[in-house]
Amino acid sequence: MMLFLDTAELEEIAARADTGLVDGVTTNPSLIAKSGANIKERIADICGVIPGPISAEVVATETDGMIAEGQTLAAIAENVVVKLPLTVDGLKACRALTDQGIATNVTLCFSINQALLAAKAGATFVSPFIGRLDDLGEDGIGLIEDIRYLYDEHGFATRILAASIRSAEHVEGSAMAGADACTLPPRIFDALAQHELTDKGLEAFLNDWKSAGQDAI
Ligand code: E4P
Repeated sequence: MMLFLDTAELEEIAARADTGLVDGVTTNPSLIAKSGANIKERIADICGVIPGPISAEVVATETDGMIAEGQTLAAIAENVVVKLPLTVDGLKACRALTDQGIATNVTLCFSINQALLAAKAGATFVSPFIGRLDDLGEDGIGLIEDIRYLYDEHGFATRILAASIRSAEHVEGSAMAGADACTLPPRIFDALAQHELTDKGLEAFLNDWKSAGQDAI
């Protein structure tokens, strides 16, 4: 499963790039706005740090505008993935951009029917927002499971990108439900390697080594 960082902050991305564990990055208009950066400059900078899929979202709401913005974003770098909202206009733009060989990420997916339409529109990725579903008392991970079944049963190649991640448990749940990718806020990415027993175990190993007077390896 691919792990993406869900941020537009270049420093947060650069600080984690050398782990070799960051497969890509997702941004959205809220994240770009929060960064205060120009979207084209920031996406170019991110693409220079991470060679994998970098999602950059359109802000037009009608198909023609989305296509034009998508072409502009895709021209920034080869690894840009054009993010489009799951509306009828967005799905039409998805089909047009897909037919032009541009990678797409259909976002704001909250139902099986929406995921079906994204796949039929040829989306490279679909982004179910599991945290926002859970916030309403619904079952975000359950939606990932259902989309996995749908895509496998009907032979759709669209990749499932679990988004709106709120916890490390969401990452585990997405992985076990068959998501192809998961996009994480940096603090959750950092939490994935942490376990209390790892820390305790390492401390004991090193104390035993030191107590026995062993030399450095
Ligand atoms: C990523 O593609 C999404 O835009 C993002 O995960 C949304 O997360 P949020 O629900 O925490 O805003």
